[in-house]
Amino acid sequence: MESGLRGEVRVCPDASALTLAVARALVDTLRTAAVGAGRCSVALPGGNTPRALYRLLGSAYREALPWQAVHIFWGDERYVPADDPRSNYRMAKEEWLDHIAIPPENVHPMPTHLADIDEAARRYEAILRAHFPMPWPGFDLVLLGLGPDGHTASLFPGSPALEERSRWVIPVRAPVEPPARLTLTLPVINRAAAVWFLVLGADKEEVLRKTLRGRAGRDLPAAQVRPVDGGLIWWVDAAAAALLAEVEPRHAPRSNS
Ligand code: 6PG
Repeated sequence: MESGLRGEVRVCPDASALTLAVARALVDTLRTAAVGAGRCSVALPGGNTPRALYRLLGSAYREALPWQAVHIFWGDERYVPADDPRSNYRMAKEEWLDHIAIPPENVHPMPTHLADIDEAARRYEAILRAHFPMPWPGFDLVLLGLGPDGHTASLFPGSPALEERSRWVIPVRAPVEPPARLTLTLPVINRAAAVWFLVLGADKEEVLRKTLRGRAGRDLPAAQVRPVDGGLIWWVDAAAAALLAEVEPRHAPRSNS
């Protein structure tokens, strides 16, 4: 393990092997949580990386979990209508949620239909507080992506959102399209029982290396993901891990799908 690494890095040979390994680990993690507590909760990322994972969870793994005990939330959302092609909710719904027997009341998309985005953030926080009656929400798993600039969820470099320590959900203006977004804050993400980054492709190798070894400054939001008590795993493919010379690839089974 590299010194200074934050969390455990699991290197998979390619995208399909990573997707299979993450799907298997996600099912195990959520099943264990559901058996232990009677229910479990996961917060989903957006972007392109999780699409193949969602598709696999909605096909080969569609019977793998007691979906009535699983609650689905989002780590961030673009402030667009739920049927907009840029919606993180729409992508998860089309690739995964429409293909499993999950009760509609267990799917908790961020509201994006209100004129006032701050009110939408407060409404989602109220949904979280109703679901997690405790000082901080205890997600069993938060899945995150890594942007080329080191952003994660919708926490972008230099954003004042990185300083938020009391609200659970806030509106942000992103430097990418679409700019209006909602995001979980760092205190919420860092109180999850498990936080997993999914990082694919050579275009992420430099930002991954910097994030894993860089300072946790405002210029590297993903480096500020440091679970208080939870586990942190970086699921990366060999292309993204190319600059992590010291990390021994742990070859996940190749996908046979
Ligand atoms: C979003 C995401 C965002 C994403 C990264 C990586 O709403 O876009 O939540 O944080 O995870 O930008 O995106 P890719 O997976 O497309 O590289």
